[in-house]
Amino acid sequence: MEFKKKILCIGAGYVGGPTMAMIALKCPQYKVTVVDINAERIAEWNSENLPIYEPGLYDVVEKTRNVNLFFNTDLENGIKESDIIFVSVNTPTKEFGAGEGMAADLQYWEATARQILQLSESSKIIIEKSTLPVKTALAMERILSFSKSDIHFEVLSNPEFLAEGTAISDLTNPDRVLVGSNETESGLKARDELVEIYSNWVDRDKIITANLWSSELSKLVANAFLAQRISSINSISALCEKTDADVSEVANAIGMDSRIGKKFLNASIGFGGSCFKKDILNLVYLCQYYGLPEVAEYWLSVVKINEFQQTRFIMNMLNAMFNTLAGKKICLFGFAFKADTGDTRESPAIFISKKLLEERAELRITDPGALKNAKSDLENIEGKISYIKEPGKAAYGCHAIAVLTEWEVYKGLDYKEIYKSMEQPAFIFDGRNILDHKKLFDIGFNVFPIGKPALTHF
Ligand code: NAD
Ligand code: UGA
Repeated sequence: MEFKKKILCIGAGYVGGPTMAMIALKCPQYKVTVVDINAERIAEWNSENLPIYEPGLYDVVEKTRNVNLFFNTDLENGIKESDIIFVSVNTPTKEFGAGEGMAADLQYWEATARQILQLSESSKIIIEKSTLPVKTALAMERILSFSKSDIHFEVLSNPEFLAEGTAISDLTNPDRVLVGSNETESGLKARDELVEIYSNWVDRDKIITANLWSSELSKLVANAFLAQRISSINSISALCEKTDADVSEVANAIGMDSRIGKKFLNASIGFGGSCFKKDILNLVYLCQYYGLPEVAEYWLSVVKINEFQQTRFIMNMLNAMFNTLAGKKICLFGFAFKADTGDTRESPAIFISKKLLEERAELRITDPGALKNAKSDLENIEGKISYIKEPGKAAYGCHAIAVLTEWEVYKGLDYKEIYKSMEQPAFIFDGRNILDHKKLFDIGFNVFPIGKPALTHF
């Protein structure tokens, strides 16, 4: 079949895989190829067990795979034959040298730019899909400007706003699609080409355009604002616990103000995920770099409150359980950084597990989709850990349950039976405020929610 356009995506991760599957589904006239240096990951994309767990993703992949969506490791051919290249490689926090622990590590990014330069035989549009520091497109343009004289590369920014667990619905119905371009003739022409791709399924008024730097910066700022709301409500949860106020009631009361809004006000054990912390630290680094220490400090406090919230959760457990956890069996309900994903990157569960093991507790970890990742996250950590798929079995004989991920399944368990099987006095620490606390208390549990008065029998 003759395809109208050939699209390549470099990086078959949480973003590259689902976004390209959606483009392939909505645009049968385009050939979409996703390449990755990780051959194992590509093999999984070509199998029934996709490398990421995301509701609805398999259906989309099944409909398009080997029709107009292809996964392979042939970067060279992919670059040569494509008109448009999305770059969706990882951009983790730098772990060495200047900006260590804060700036974005752009080595994978730059390597990709050089490969595109080296292998291209025709002009192309290069699209930044990864989240990058503002002005990265300039560096990319400079590298790509060393091309053969008849080849032109136009760099666009098209940050991705999907959230894990809801990737398919976010991609089907995005709040907005952002396209940043140079405001030159070739920049605007490339911008229109990308806008045309999204127009196959997204309302035109939701596709917004901006200059390159606004687009790059908007992505960092969007994540920083979302994370800031969580840290704000979590900071208030600490005050609620001291004053007998209830953080859900406070969130409800403030959220009904349409200027504040209801979303992202769930107090928790803190935000996790591969991006919030990395992107805020990236923003902090940029502010420091541009000589704005006060602005840097402001955004850094969002990360500090997140760490405080996780430490607070551990201290609450320790205090409630008579100041010793040594030898006690603690069951962790959930390990993923949020529900409906198997992803555990930066999950608060990792920090909490390590701290509990330092206190010499014994861990029973259960999670419907993240046990494989949990095992690898805790691989080299000393201590007793078992991984048990079924939550009732995992809690059997434990002294306490700590709810770390808001999986729906935990709401409907038979807590009467679970209570009977546990060591007494039995504790529940609801780090997500998803359970019926009064009911659990009536069963006999000592219940410790986040930001609400504890319900205890002594
Ligand atoms: P990921 O680690 O899941 O995937 C990145 C992939 O790129 C990996 O499979 C890696 O092998 C591959 N890769 C690295 N260098 C390569 C190269 N030179 N050639 C070919 N493949 C290469 O990362 P992700 O979660 O998909 O994130 C990608 C980017 O998107 C990041 O910048 C992230 O901040 C951003 N983002 C992520 C999300 C999310 O929900 N995970 C949402 C929005 C934006
Ligand atoms: C987030 C953003 O929501 C996406 O728009 C963005 O594209 C993405 O980061 C990214 O750049 O990677 P994601 O991290 O997948 O998406 O998930 P969120 O739903 O934002 O949740 C992040 C964390 O905050 C989770 O640990 C979640 O449990 C926590 N959270 C969320 C709360 O503690 N309280 C809330 O009210 C909401």
